[in-house]
Amino acid sequence: MEIRIDYTNMMAAAVSGGLEADDWREAGEAFRASRARVNERDVRGELGFLHLPERDALRQACETTAGEMRPDVDDVVVLGIGGSALGPIALRTALLEPGWNLLTRSARNGLPRLHVLDNVDPATIAGTLDRVDIARTLFIVTSKSGGTAETMAQFLVANDRVRAAGLPVRNHFVFITDPDKGALRALAASEGIRALEIPADVGGRFSVLTPVGLFPAAMTGIDIGALLRGAAIMRDRCATDVLSENPAGAYATLQWLAHTKLGKSMHVCMPYSDSLRDIADWFVQLWAESLGMVRPDGTSVGPTPIAALGATDQHSQVQLFMEGPADKTVSFLAVGSRSGDVEIPSAFPDVRELAYLGGHTLGALLDIEQRATAGALARRGRPNLTITMGKVDAEHLGALFMFFELATAYAGELYGVNAYDQPGVELGKQFAYAMLGRPDAQAAREEWDRLPKPDPSRTI
Ligand code: PA5
Repeated sequence: MEIRIDYTNMMAAAVSGGLEADDWREAGEAFRASRARVNERDVRGELGFLHLPERDALRQACETTAGEMRPDVDDVVVLGIGGSALGPIALRTALLEPGWNLLTRSARNGLPRLHVLDNVDPATIAGTLDRVDIARTLFIVTSKSGGTAETMAQFLVANDRVRAAGLPVRNHFVFITDPDKGALRALAASEGIRALEIPADVGGRFSVLTPVGLFPAAMTGIDIGALLRGAAIMRDRCATDVLSENPAGAYATLQWLAHTKLGKSMHVCMPYSDSLRDIADWFVQLWAESLGMVRPDGTSVGPTPIAALGATDQHSQVQLFMEGPADKTVSFLAVGSRSGDVEIPSAFPDVRELAYLGGHTLGALLDIEQRATAGALARRGRPNLTITMGKVDAEHLGALFMFFELATAYAGELYGVNAYDQPGVELGKQFAYAMLGRPDAQAAREEWDRLPKPDPSRTI
């Protein structure tokens, strides 16, 4: 398993306006302090995500349940939102064959299709439910709290479809939720529905390596043991205070330094691989929801993560990254070896725009474009780094998840925030509950009613 970070282009020696060697040296102390605070949280039992590779019972429960349910299932539909959906989406895009859901069952080796409904747009929900054969569909309802409005609404719609088809609910649902708390846990008990655990000490956006990601992965034949193995390798590699040897520590510290010393408050994640494109979205949620906070002293902090895709965004956002405000770092995700590369045939030797391409592969073209973009950004004084994965497989992906989760934990301490909470999303939820008539949202209703009403003179 190989994951390498090249941060040459973050430093002033390579990029004018980059980080000074002294900044980097001095940051070693800040990193050590942040790592000590991460360790203290861990000792207090707050960082369950670090120990998932050893929680074998979770893996076994996923494999056993998947083994039992798979033969009767053509479609798996994950119902969830936020951390309960982005991990399964990232896993699907990275590790299932492109166009998986369009393949025949035999081309899928008898494994089910995988849909992740991460919103409550009626067009998507109705479209998906109309397309699948409910009698051969398994709904995975994923919610750590067991009460998220969007997920509960999705569940109510799916539950109604299953009952309307005269099917036994317990054969068509698996819940993934807190071991003890929440409405889903109680419903699982009363309805006899199987429920897998999200450990109490693992929060939503850190949960991809719990049954949240592992169970849909197991249902679709992904090697979940390898995911966990990769995560353990990365965690152990990061068990050092030496900043230059700790990949997650180096990533977090470089981004934090670039923000606080150079004003680079926008952190772009740009994979050069379609398989990794949804990793960028997963990262965006992790970085944004964990680090954008009001600190105890009342100041608001947090970087703004941005997802991009190479080479596609070379014809879109890269113009902004090159010449727009100099407030960004770009982190490329590159792939060492690509399976099934395609040679570009040589033809039209007299056409300058075509002739030079022949004989290269598409993978090589993508890699060269990544290096060219990194070099061009560096030339324009735009700091960037490249994370290279040996290949895209379950082990590397598990390592990448752990890398970003640990980086977020370190960054939380560097920024001085609690990376495991999200108080900022609460008020909007309460206002929605109030408008939907939830009885315990009376206080929010009163606050909502006191808000200024739309002014017709300011409506066009
Ligand atoms: O990271 C988080 O905690 C959130 O993004 C949650 O995953 C999201 O709000 C969904 O919550 P739940 O899993 O409780 O339904």
